[in-house]
Amino acid sequence: MAIFKVFRYNPESYEIARFQEYEIPDTESMTVLEGLYYILENIDPTLAFRSSCREGVCGSCAMHINGEYRLACETQVSDMGHNVTIRPLAHMKIIRDLVVDLTPFFDNYEKIKPYLINSGPVPDKEFKQSPKERKRIDHHVDCILCGACYGSCPVLATDSAYLGPHALLKVLRFVDDSRDDAAYERLAYVATDYGIFRCHTIFNCQQVCPKDLDPTGAIGKLKMKAVKGKLLGKLKKTGT
Ligand code: F3S
Ligand code: FES
Repeated sequence: MAIFKVFRYNPESYEIARFQEYEIPDTESMTVLEGLYYILENIDPTLAFRSSCREGVCGSCAMHINGEYRLACETQVSDMGHNVTIRPLAHMKIIRDLVVDLTPFFDNYEKIKPYLINSGPVPDKEFKQSPKERKRIDHHVDCILCGACYGSCPVLATDSAYLGPHALLKVLRFVDDSRDDAAYERLAYVATDYGIFRCHTIFNCQQVCPKDLDPTGAIGKLKMKAVKGKLLGKLKKTGT
């Protein structure tokens, strides 16, 4: 048996935000996401939360569970003890209960142009990459855009203009990609007060990443590259 304390809030009603308790009788081998489905299907059909793949791939079910941002589908109730307290991701407007408006998260992601830019001739079949070149980006490609890092970063609590760890990790993924030739422009775009230099190296993003990626390290590498490339001076000239 477990007690789930779930954050409830409906901005369209006059009720104030609160935690609602639910008793879940049999939690053996149950994930937190399955517990939420149990509530939805057996106790309270009004509970709102997001999920899709149920296997740690889509990134939809990131939420704050017992003091840490985690994927609900990869979190065992037994590992959380008998009391599970669940809140939505932070720093974004709540649409309802555990569902937040991810617009600022994806807006920032879009700003860094998260796709290959290559001004050379388009190859017949594909841009080739050697195993060694691929290895350079191995540590950055597995982001599932769950938002756990975004919710955990205290800078974003007060500054929504900050691009955020998810976007900056992706910048390094393209800067280090042998098929991309826009590294300079990418670095110039993030070598600003709303980019890499807004990061205070707090490490929360690294700690919570469900894929064990290292946004903190990625931002550190981008800072080194920007400083070595003397991008700060160039930026002042262009005003970007
Ligand atoms: Fe935030 Fe991660 Fe930097 S938590 S301050 S982006 S190291
Ligand atoms: Fe897809 Fe959890 S439901 S990551």
